[in-house]
Amino acid sequence: MSQPAAIHLADYQAPAWRVLDTRLTFDLAPSATRVTTVLTLEANPDAAVGSDATPPLVLNGEHLTLESVRVDGRALASDEYKLDETHLTLAGLPANCELETVVVIDPAANTALEGLYVSSGMFCTQCEAEGFRRITYYPDRPDVMSVFTTTIIADKDSYPILLSNGNPIERGEREGGRHFVTWQDPHPKPCYLFALVAGDLVKHDDSFTTMSGRDVALEIWVEPENLDKTQHAMNSLKASMKWDEEVYGREYDLDIFMIVAVNDFNMGAMENKGLNIFNSACVLANPDTTTDAAFQRVEGVVAHEYFHNWSGNRVTCRDWFQLSLKEGFTVYRDQTFSADMNSAPVKRIEDVAMLRTAQFAEDAGPTAHPVRPASYIEISNFYTLTIYEKGSEVVRMVANLLGEEAFRRGSDLYFARNDGSAATIEDFISAMSEASGRDFSQFMRWYSQAGTPNIAASGTFDAQAGTYSLTLRQSTPPSPGQAEKLPLVIPVRMGLVGADGSDLTLTLDGEALGTEIVLELTEAEQTFVFTGLAGDAEPVPSLLRGFSAPVKLAFDYSREQLAFLMQHDSDGFNRWDAGQRLAMAALEDLMAAWQRGEQEAQLDERLLAAYRFLLQSEASDRAVLAEMLTLPSEAYIAEQQSVVDVDAIHWARKTAKAQLASALRDDFVALYHANAQQGDYAPTFEQMARRSLKNAALSYLMSIEDEEGMRLSQAQLAAAHNMTDVRAALTMLVHSSRTDLGDPALKSFAERWSHDPLVMDQWFSIQVTRPQADVLDRVRFLMEHPAFSLTNPNKVRALIGAFAGQNRVNFHRLDGEGYRLLADVVIELNRLNPEIAARIITPLTRYKRFDAKRQDLMKAELERIRGEKLSNNLYEVVEKALA
Ligand code: ARG
Ligand code: ZN
Repeated sequence: MSQPAAIHLADYQAPAWRVLDTRLTFDLAPSATRVTTVLTLEANPDAAVGSDATPPLVLNGEHLTLESVRVDGRALASDEYKLDETHLTLAGLPANCELETVVVIDPAANTALEGLYVSSGMFCTQCEAEGFRRITYYPDRPDVMSVFTTTIIADKDSYPILLSNGNPIERGEREGGRHFVTWQDPHPKPCYLFALVAGDLVKHDDSFTTMSGRDVALEIWVEPENLDKTQHAMNSLKASMKWDEEVYGREYDLDIFMIVAVNDFNMGAMENKGLNIFNSACVLANPDTTTDAAFQRVEGVVAHEYFHNWSGNRVTCRDWFQLSLKEGFTVYRDQTFSADMNSAPVKRIEDVAMLRTAQFAEDAGPTAHPVRPASYIEISNFYTLTIYEKGSEVVRMVANLLGEEAFRRGSDLYFARNDGSAATIEDFISAMSEASGRDFSQFMRWYSQAGTPNIAASGTFDAQAGTYSLTLRQSTPPSPGQAEKLPLVIPVRMGLVGADGSDLTLTLDGEALGTEIVLELTEAEQTFVFTGLAGDAEPVPSLLRGFSAPVKLAFDYSREQLAFLMQHDSDGFNRWDAGQRLAMAALEDLMAAWQRGEQEAQLDERLLAAYRFLLQSEASDRAVLAEMLTLPSEAYIAEQQSVVDVDAIHWARKTAKAQLASALRDDFVALYHANAQQGDYAPTFEQMARRSLKNAALSYLMSIEDEEGMRLSQAQLAAAHNMTDVRAALTMLVHSSRTDLGDPALKSFAERWSHDPLVMDQWFSIQVTRPQADVLDRVRFLMEHPAFSLTNPNKVRALIGAFAGQNRVNFHRLDGEGYRLLADVVIELNRLNPEIAARIITPLTRYKRFDAKRQDLMKAELERIRGEKLSNNLYEVVEKALA
C-alpha cells in the first residue's frame, strides 16, 4: 500500500485549463443520482507549456461511476481517456472545447458527509475543501473559477424544494411525478462554493434593503418542526448585512440569500454563494431549547458565513495554503461584529480564553503548523484553531498596528484590487502595506512560523531617577519541522499603574506619549526606559492590554500586585487576566500540597479577599463580573504545567471552589437573588449577563452542596423558564453526589425532549461530563441509546467529544479504559467519517504532555489505530503524533 503524499506550497502552479462555463444537471435519487456536467474549457495561455499541443486536462473525481465522456459532441471510447481512482485525464484536446461527462453517485451511502449526501431525508452538499470531486469530474481547486448553471430534477412529493446557488431562472414538471428547477449563479466561483439542497422544507421569509437601495429576499429553510427556531438567525443575518455595509462598505450582490439547516454536518456551516448550508446547531435557536451560549454562537456563525461573501467568495483563495486569508480575516470580522452587538470585553475574554487553552495547545503539539502551512497531506485536517483563531489574531494585530482608518483603506484596496479573483496572503498584506505606508516584511513571519511566542518581561524602578526600565525578551519554541525561530513583530499594548490606581503618563526618549501605548517588540530583547516618574512607589506594569498579541507573557508579579491590578487596571481585559493569574498562583499552591499528600491545604487568603472585593463591589459590568468569578478551567490550568497532573488539577480546582463557596456563601446567595428576576426571555447581553452571574453563584453553592443551593437548583429546573437556566440547574444536580435528584431529572428531561436532537445532544453532554468515577459505564451505555448515532457528527461531539475533552479525570483514568474507548470510536469513524475521526482523536495525540504511565497507554492506543487501514485524514494525524 502506497503512503499518501504531502502537497507543498512551493510546488504551486497555475491551472493548465480554465473553465469558462459549468452546466450541471442532477437527476436525484438517494442511491443512484445521475450527474451530467458540461464544461466549456480553454487551455490557460498563462500556463503555456511551450509547444503547440495543449497540456493534458486532469480532472479530479472520487467515488464516481463514469458512464460517458464526450468532447464537442463526440462520444469517446474508453481508450481515449485515462481513468483511475482519483482522476480522469484527457490528452490532445483542442485549446477551446466542450466536455460532457455523465457519472452516477450514491448519496445515501455517503457517510463522510463530503460531496452530495442525504441527511434526515434531504439531499445536501458540502464541497469545501475537496468535496466537489465526489460529485463530478472537475478541476477541483479554488483558482479555477466559473459561472454555474444547475438543473435539479427530483420527485416532487419527496423533494418539493430544490435549491442551488444564484437565482432561479426556470422551473417545470417532468414525467413520473418529477419536477425541476434551474438555478444560475452569475458570479464566477470555484467549485468548493457550489451547493445543492433538495427536500421537504419550509422557509422563514424576510427581506433586506441594501445601502444602494436594492431589495434582497432572505430565506431560512428548515424542516417544518423547526420553523419556531429561525427568528434569531434572521435577526443576526440582517444585523450582519447592515454591519458589513457600515464597517467595511460591503454590500450584498445577489437578489436572494438563503440559509438551510442540516442535521448531519461535519463543521459549523458553509458559505456557499447565495446558499449557506448550516449545521442545525449553528442556526436554530429558541429560548426553550437553546442556551445563551448557543444563541451567541448562532449570531456569530451567521455573521461569519455572511461575511465570507466578500472575504472568501468575491475574493477567494488561490490555493488551500492560503486558507487563513479567508478564515482568519472572516473570524476577525465576526469577532468584532459580536463585540459590537454584545459586551466587547466579555467577547474578548471568551475568545482569548479559548485561544490560550485550545489553540496554544495545538501550537505546542504534534500537529502544530504555521497560519500558512508549507505542506499538508489532507487539507480537511487544516481547518484548525491555528488557521482560524490565530489567523484572526494576526489580522487583529494588523488592524491595531494600522489604526481603524488605515485598516479600512487597506481592506477597501484589498477588495477592489482582488475582486473576482483568487488571492494570496501577500495580496492582503500588500494592500495593508500600501494603504498605510508600513513595511510588513518582518511581520510576515507570523504566517510562516508555528508555535506560541514567549515574552519574558522584567522591570526595574529607580525612584531617585524617576525611571522605570521594562525589558522584554521574546523567543518561540521549536515546532515540528522548525527548529529555529526568528524574532517576530510583537505589539505590546501597555500602561504603568501608579500607587493610587491611575495610569501614569508614559515618557519615552523625552516624549510624553499619553497613558497607554503600544510597544513594538521586534528584536530578541529590547529595553524601554520610561522617565519622569515622580514619587517613591514602584508602578505596576499592565502588559499586553486587550491581549494585543497571541503570546504567553511572563512577569514576576507579586500576588499583591495582581490583586491591585485586578481592582485598578483601566483595561477590562487585564483586570480579568490579573484575576486569572492570581487564581493560578493559588491553584498552584493547592496542587503542590496535593502532590505532597496534604489534603487539608488552605486557599490563599489573598484570592479569597479578591473574591470578597468583587462580590461586594458595585456590579457595574455584570457580564465581566461573571467572567471574573470563574476560576481558570482545568484545560487552561493543564496548559500552564510542564507535566500535566490531571488529578491534582481537578482536586485543586474543586477545593478552591469549595473553599470560596464556604467562605462567601451568603454573598453567593445574595448574588443569586439579585440576578434572579425573570421577565420574558430575550437574548440580549444584559439578560445573558444576569443569567450567567446567577448561575455562577449557584455553581459555587452547589460545589459545597449547600442546602439552599440544592433548593434553588431544583426550583430553577422546575420553573423551566429557559434552556440556559434549565441546563445549568440540571448539570449541577447531575454532577452532584445526589443521584436521587439527578437521575429522575435526567429521565424526565429525556421524556420531554426525545423528539429534539439538539436538546438530546445537551442531555448526552451533561451526563458524560459528570466527574464521578462511574461515568465511563454511562458513556458506553449512552452509545447504545436510540438517540445516539456514530454517523451524526453532533452526536459524536456531544457524547465522545465532551467525555474525552471535558471530563479530564475520567478520560485519563489510569487503567487506560478512557483511551481505549476513544480509540474504538476512532477506528469505527475512520470508515464512516474520516474527517470527524481525525478530529475526535485529538486528546490522544497530546500524550507527550502527561506522565510516563499515561504516555505509554495513549501511545499503545495510537499504535493500535495505526494498525488499521487508515484514511488519509487519520494517517496524517497519527503519523505526526507518533513521529
Ligand atoms: N468555510 C467553512 C467556514 O469556515 C468551513 C468549511 C470546512 N470544511 C471542511 N471540510 N472542513 O465557514
Ligand atoms: Zn469560515
